[in-house]
Amino acid sequence: MPCGPTTRWWRRIWLMTTELLSVRDIQVGYGAVRALEGVSIHVDEGEVVSVIGSNGAGKTTLMKTVAGLLAARSGVITFEDQDITEIEAQDLVGRGISLVPEGRQVFGRMSVEENLMLGAYSRPGGAREDDFAHCFALFPRLEERRSQRAGTLSGGEQQMLAIARGLMSRPRLLLMDEPSLGLAPQLVSRTFEVVERLRAAGTTILMVEQMARQALRVSDRAYVLEHGRIVGEGASADLLDDPRVLGAYLGSR
Ligand SMILES: Nc1ncnc2c1ncn2[C@@H]1O[C@H](COP(=O)(O)OP(=O)(O)OP(=O)(O)O)[C@@H](O)[C@H]1O
Ligand SMILES: [Mg+2]
Repeated sequence: MPCGPTTRWWRRIWLMTTELLSVRDIQVGYGAVRALEGVSIHVDEGEVVSVIGSNGAGKTTLMKTVAGLLAARSGVITFEDQDITEIEAQDLVGRGISLVPEGRQVFGRMSVEENLMLGAYSRPGGAREDDFAHCFALFPRLEERRSQRAGTLSGGEQQMLAIARGLMSRPRLLLMDEPSLGLAPQLVSRTFEVVERLRAAGTTILMVEQMARQALRVSDRAYVLEHGRIVGEGASADLLDDPRVLGAYLGSR
């Protein structure tokens, strides 16, 4: 169906008011280690939300819990108003939650195309040519290297592949665990440009990052996570000017 100006206008109103993900008061741990203590966050449809925090704050734990790879000891997670607290990762992909994991984790011996096909396993009929076309429009470099082994790609290209693989399931919510991790400064900027492009295309994203300034620049709202607790939240533009955030996370750059 064509999307005329009126449809788009209504869609904007709709996007502004729809809560997609809600995490309420979750507690997550590893044995005696308490990694998340009473964490509550939400993501509305069409938003890019970042969670900033330093090493060991609990960022990966939060991502894995939302993605169904870790179980919360208490609290509730809802997605599109359905309780998903107990639902496992493979079923959440089918419902529209896709994780781009920390450290990329592409399959080095497999080709770019085969890696992308893995991302589409939840799609009826598997990977389709229009799914590939969607990814290659965003990442033309991957199309050039479609049959190349993923292990021979540069670090930045592997990150693009990891993001593209995450998009192959056509998620309603894309989770990104430190997309900038281990990349040279120029590639870090390129990765955040990709987030901006996805945002402009209306993709809903929850991203955790240590690169606070860059993450805040490309997101609508943000939370600050410290020692497993949310200690601050607000519009990203406001947090960029907040002296406490500046002091703790933004350094002098
Ligand atoms: N498998 C595990 N067993 C025990 N403790 C763990 C495990 N994984 C993480 N932790 C602990 O939980 C806390 C949160 O870890 P997590 O990986 O979520 O942090 P993070 O914010 O992602 O850190 P980083 O920026 O280094 O990736 C840390 O104290 C960590 O040591
Ligand atoms: Mg982590």
